[in-house]
Amino acid sequence: MARTSSIFLFFLHLVLFSTSLEAKSEKGRKTNNREEAAAALFIFGDSFLDAGNNNYINTTNLGQANFWPYGETFFRFPTGRFSDGRLISDFIAEYANLPLIPPFLQPETQRYYINGVNFASAGAGALVETLQGDVINLETQLGYYKKVESWLREKLGNDEAKMIISRAVYLFSIGSNDYISPFLTNNFTLLINSSSDSKYVGIVIGNLTRVIKEIYESGGRKFAFTNLPNLGCFPGMRIIRTEDNGRCLKEVSSLAKLHNKALSKLLFDLNKQLKGFKYSIFDMNSRLRQRMNHPSKYGLMEGETACCGTGQFRGVFSCGGKRLPVKEFQLCENPNQYVFWDSFHLTEMVNKQLAQEMWNAPTNSHVIGPYNLKNLFQIC
Ligand SMILES: *[C@@H]1O[C@H](CO)[C@@H](O)[C@H](O)[C@H]1NC(C)=O
Ligand SMILES: *[C@@H]1O[C@H](CO)[C@@H](O)[C@H](O)[C@H]1NC(C)=O
Ligand SMILES: *[C@@H]1O[C@H](CO)[C@@H](O)[C@H](O)[C@H]1NC(C)=O
Ligand SMILES: *[C@@H]1O[C@H](CO)[C@@H](O)[C@H](O)[C@H]1NC(C)=O
Repeated sequence: MARTSSIFLFFLHLVLFSTSLEAKSEKGRKTNNREEAAAALFIFGDSFLDAGNNNYINTTNLGQANFWPYGETFFRFPTGRFSDGRLISDFIAEYANLPLIPPFLQPETQRYYINGVNFASAGAGALVETLQGDVINLETQLGYYKKVESWLREKLGNDEAKMIISRAVYLFSIGSNDYISPFLTNNFTLLINSSSDSKYVGIVIGNLTRVIKEIYESGGRKFAFTNLPNLGCFPGMRIIRTEDNGRCLKEVSSLAKLHNKALSKLLFDLNKQLKGFKYSIFDMNSRLRQRMNHPSKYGLMEGETACCGTGQFRGVFSCGGKRLPVKEFQLCENPNQYVFWDSFHLTEMVNKQLAQEMWNAPTNSHVIGPYNLKNLFQIC
């Protein structure tokens, strides 16, 4: 069954790819600059992809990264990204020949809309309730996207706007905060048994489904997702229940696992339901787990302890100190040797490695599929 469907997807891919080549050569004859432009990138989700939207909202400082040492390696100033440098989405934009995609809330970015916009917000979940009041939730992100869509139609006309929207890639990282946040507030009551767990996952996936369908209705066709990492083994989660002595918080990891199953099924189903829907799902869970368990295989030295933070695994969220509840923190010498930058986020080095795999890992390798990001940008 699984075999048949992957063969089917392979053929589907061949068919789509050859039609897209034909379409391209036809366009080539007309040689219009705009048609040669790279497909746009619209970014949704949480702190794995937030390039600075939270700099412009009222949030507790837990939801912002616009202070040193965030940004210390690549940008050499804090941009609001939760890393020492660039995020996965920054690398994807680079590989797609796009400039850095600006945060939607950054003033005066409209002239860049043609290349895409970043709506992601640190702390955001698929549920409105997740860290409510401190984040731009997915629903609001969708609302912002609709503003950009009308702007494009108004400025460029329906036909050209439609082309930009249908060629664009819609990249998502969402869900982690829906599963993490109840534990951050030490609220284990929400998630006590497997039947309430799958109900909760169903609600998260239900909300995500609605957002995907609305983008599809607006003309969006190419969707890219990362599945959820093994959240319970993040430095910030291992220290939550002191009696666990630093073991991974298995309740969160099992929610992430349930979510990943449901996400794969959702995308497989949407692909059958929605005409022209194309997608890519990256197995972030296994790719990051590899690096956490075998850092030296990937040119890294430390897979458990964060570069920046306090206490065991530097799991206490305190990187940058001054504006946070815990002011004292340690900072490693060389973030390039670490998987984790702070207690919940990855270093630029790991973001880059993951983005490279998303971009062009073979699609028959269980790393990414049915398309990799390179395919997804190229097809029409
Ligand atoms: C943020 O909070 C301040 C003070 O409460 C308020 O004046 C300002 O309008 C708020 N900004 C936003 C974007 O909500
Ligand atoms: C814990 O979560 C449950 C379910 O969402 C909620 O009813 C309850 O008020 C929460 N308790 C605390 C202390 O936040
Ligand atoms: C488990 O969760 C379900 C759904 O929320 C609930 O109806 C049931 O009472 C729970 N069982 C136990 C043993 O708590
Ligand atoms: C979306 O989430 C809300 C809670 O924020 C829930 O009540 C609703 O049922 C969810 N919608 C879907 C379609 O699952």
